[in-house]
Amino acid sequence: MSDAKRRVAEAAAELVEPGMRLGLGTGSTAALFIEALGRRVADGLDLPPAAATSRASEDAARRAGIAIIDMMGPDAPAELDLAIDGADEADPRLSLIKGGGASLLREKIVEALARRFVVIIDESKVVEQLGAFPLPVEIVPFGWASTAHLIRSRLGVEPQLREARGEVLKTDNGNFILDLPFGTIADPEATARTLAGIPGVVEHGLFIGMASEALVSDGQNVRRLTP
Ligand code: 5RP
Repeated sequence: MSDAKRRVAEAAAELVEPGMRLGLGTGSTAALFIEALGRRVADGLDLPPAAATSRASEDAARRAGIAIIDMMGPDAPAELDLAIDGADEADPRLSLIKGGGASLLREKIVEALARRFVVIIDESKVVEQLGAFPLPVEIVPFGWASTAHLIRSRLGVEPQLREARGEVLKTDNGNFILDLPFGTIADPEATARTLAGIPGVVEHGLFIGMASEALVSDGQNVRRLTP
């Protein structure tokens, strides 16, 4: 699927116009977008500093010659023109599961600022119903097992604490990730509300009503989906 990722990444880079305030996503598809955008910047495209959704994307942007906003400082923006990011699943309404790369919190903060949020995915990510991809949820480390118990009792799903290289994965924000293997999520809005009401949950990977459109590729063509 790397051809598909490259095609949507390059198509997304063409959406960028001079002076646009951008949000840069995270993941392998977003990384290809950042590279493609960097090539346009090297060719003279003039951009103000962009908002990155992870340390990895910050680093990738700097390597590509794209200046970055200090999102920890007082000059973090109130609005962006365009955010571009991948996703783990997208349904026909363009409700998304995100967070496979553990960056869902920063992604949601940045993408909520965007007047236009374009999702870049390959065909394998387009689903009728969300949930085959385990839903990532960012939680605070304090009481993480208690938070997992509450999620289990309120949603009837067995949370898995995410590990990487044999250790508990810590996000860029110092938090943990629980992956929730629902299989199918019959009512994403209700699931999102339930998760948001559980103490210890910082953010969940359901992005509902946020995407303006999706660029989808099978490796040959790019098609555009709208909600
Ligand atoms: C990171 C994300 C990514 O956008 C998602 O995991 C898709 O990644 P990739 O483009 O590598 O398939 O949500 O938190």
